[in-house]
Amino acid sequence: MKILGIETSCDETAASVVLRDADGRGTIFSNIVRSQVEEHAAFGGVVPELAARAHVSHLDGIIARALDEAGVALGDLDAIAATAGPGLIGGVLVGLTTGKALAAAAGLKFIGVNHLEGHALTARLTDGVEFPYLMLLVSGGHSQFVLVRGVGDYERWGGTIDDALGEAFDKVAKMLDLGLPGGPRVEALARSGDPRRFRLPRPLMGEARLDFSFSGLKTAVRLAAEDAAPLTDQDAADLCASFQAAVVEIVAKRSAAALARFAAALPDATPTLVVAGGVAANRAIAAALGAVAEKAGARLVVPPIALCTDNGAMIAWAGAERLALGRSDGLDLPARPRWPL
Ligand code: KG4
Ligand code: ZN
Repeated sequence: MKILGIETSCDETAASVVLRDADGRGTIFSNIVRSQVEEHAAFGGVVPELAARAHVSHLDGIIARALDEAGVALGDLDAIAATAGPGLIGGVLVGLTTGKALAAAAGLKFIGVNHLEGHALTARLTDGVEFPYLMLLVSGGHSQFVLVRGVGDYERWGGTIDDALGEAFDKVAKMLDLGLPGGPRVEALARSGDPRRFRLPRPLMGEARLDFSFSGLKTAVRLAAEDAAPLTDQDAADLCASFQAAVVEIVAKRSAAALARFAAALPDATPTLVVAGGVAANRAIAAALGAVAEKAGARLVVPPIALCTDNGAMIAWAGAERLALGRSDGLDLPARPRWPL
């Protein structure tokens, strides 16, 4: 079956056509993503109203390109899937309403997808990963471990109690005036810094739970920056390196614990850790996760970064997985700003 996926829950306007064959294998026919980074850069973060307006301006063109590149017309599709939440409600409404309208006009099935489910199932599209597996989602909006047992069968094992990890990277970048996107700039600067220069906290590390907290770490970076002001380039690099070292240690330790829990809870399954979200692009974090997985005898799956960050293919794929089980939604499906898996 061929599905059009639409994603508008944050600051990417995205559409994609994906095929799921009878054996459950996926093929991406097109995957068009338009980032709004430039619209929001002057404000130091995503402005919801601007995001919604930019989705309105660009979504039609992005969908037309996705269909065109895939060489299909609306009538060739089996269904349309659109993100129904969680996310910025104005943007979600733009994509959801567009998806419903197209489905109604073309007489196609409609599927409202949970954005987090899109991230959770992507590794099956890219790497054919079998259930069950453990997902670590680390993006600008989310940081959590989810046990993925099957389509629609998720168990949250821990998450952030304050900031998301990508958000912490972005805030550190903002404090140091590095500009957007924050994560890649912090990572780049950290390469020339001394990770031992500043002693920063590792919040919650003494506790056994699988939760994260990054707000105290972020505040510690701010205090250290104020202490050392005015900052030289080397000071900023040392701060980035010290912050990233703390993050790497926190993520590695939690992931090792999560894999141990996986092995104990599902002794017959191959321990598998799937990473999703934009922070997966961070090489220091990816390298640390590689070491953790190797030590635990687990398989580590990091999909191509263009599919780790927000995109339409993950929404089309999640829609296809649900449709394959006979599930679809009515056109009265509401948008949900908050929607835990
Ligand atoms: O998944 P994503 O594209 O958007 C959502 O939040 O849904 O993730 C974007 C986040 C941003 O916070 C960005 O700073 C972070 O991922 N990020 C990184 C890196 N590349 C992107 N964080 C750390 N290191 C990176 N190389
Ligand atoms: Zn996302």
